[in-house]
Amino acid sequence: MKIEVIKGLLKNIIYPNLDRDIVSLELIKDIKIKNKTLRIEVLSSNEDIFHSIEEQIKMLFKDDFEEIEVRFLTTKQNSINYGNTQTPNNRAPYAKHIIAVTSGKGGVGKSTVSVNLAVSLAQIGFSVGLLDADVYGPNIPRMLGIAQEKLQWSKDDKMIPSENYGIKVMSVGLTTPSSDTPLVWRSSVAVSALIQFLEDVAWGELDFLIIDMPPGTGDIQLTMAQELPITSSVIVTTPQLISCDDVSRAIMMFKDIKVPIGGIVENMSTFMAPDTKKEYAIFGSGGAQNLCDTYDIKLLGKIPLTMDIRETSDSGRPAVATDNAIQKGYYREITKNLLLEMGLL
Ligand SMILES: Nc1ncnc2c1ncn2[C@@H]1O[C@H](COP(=O)(O)OP(=O)(O)OP(=O)(O)O)[C@@H](O)[C@H]1O
Ligand SMILES: [Mg+2]
Repeated sequence: MKIEVIKGLLKNIIYPNLDRDIVSLELIKDIKIKNKTLRIEVLSSNEDIFHSIEEQIKMLFKDDFEEIEVRFLTTKQNSINYGNTQTPNNRAPYAKHIIAVTSGKGGVGKSTVSVNLAVSLAQIGFSVGLLDADVYGPNIPRMLGIAQEKLQWSKDDKMIPSENYGIKVMSVGLTTPSSDTPLVWRSSVAVSALIQFLEDVAWGELDFLIIDMPPGTGDIQLTMAQELPITSSVIVTTPQLISCDDVSRAIMMFKDIKVPIGGIVENMSTFMAPDTKKEYAIFGSGGAQNLCDTYDIKLLGKIPLTMDIRETSDSGRPAVATDNAIQKGYYREITKNLLLEMGLL
């Protein structure tokens, strides 16, 4: 078997916390073949991850070699495989604080939390921009009642962000002919569109730039961490074990790439019956608290699953912009706890 063939096969091994393979991440430092022995050197910052890669390599070549030796090369700093996230670029020098709202999992309420966090910061008096980084599923325009708006350009060729509820908003959804236009973009194109949204939008001076991340732990999350000095991140989860597992991966990725974590939000914490107001823990309970204990992260707050939150967000009115004091309260508490955690209150 030739070295090139081995390299090609190694591309089947995906790095545990990322959607990328170990070859494209340049983790394979050396491959040697001597008679029936294969020797591979793997760079990794984390021993557990190394062992999982080692096991997969041994499985992959077990029928081709009598002996397989996988060596662990460690580095002092662990930013090797993620590009330069320890000293990121700053594509948004106009923003004092950049907050990424993220989760390893889809559909847990990232966009709802982003919108309500942004609007409640604006209600306190901060100037706030909200960037919808979910280029394949841009929900922010609908949640803010601006789905019909189309992108405007200024005289000096900058994109003018839409505005509603006191915040500025930019989303791919504002650039497509209609909200159901699918985008078929390679991730490199999606990433360049986002960079353009950071650099070519007339955001003005912002106290906060909130970034609503797409689900997962992939290229967009990595690029944002490389291109922006993220001040703090808010991790959203539901109490289910499955959600918590995905979220653990996102937490590990953020810890690895040195993005500060401001705290966890437990969304859909309980289901609140609209008639009796009785609460049911349909997704189980304690999941987010466990994550917080495991990773030593603060629990910023819990939000129940309610009809009101679903209806208001679908109809383009964020919960904090309604006069329902209970709904507002959940998001305001989270906003306050985040500001406290960031040392801004
Ligand atoms: N606490 C809640 N109570 C009721 N409905 C909610 C709540 N939080 C979110 N939803 C609803 O759940 C759906 C998914 O929420 P949202 O779009 O915020 O999730 P997401 O994590 O951003 O999803 P995606 O991964 O697709 O970006 C939306 O219809 C939203 O209105
Ligand atoms: Mg979303």
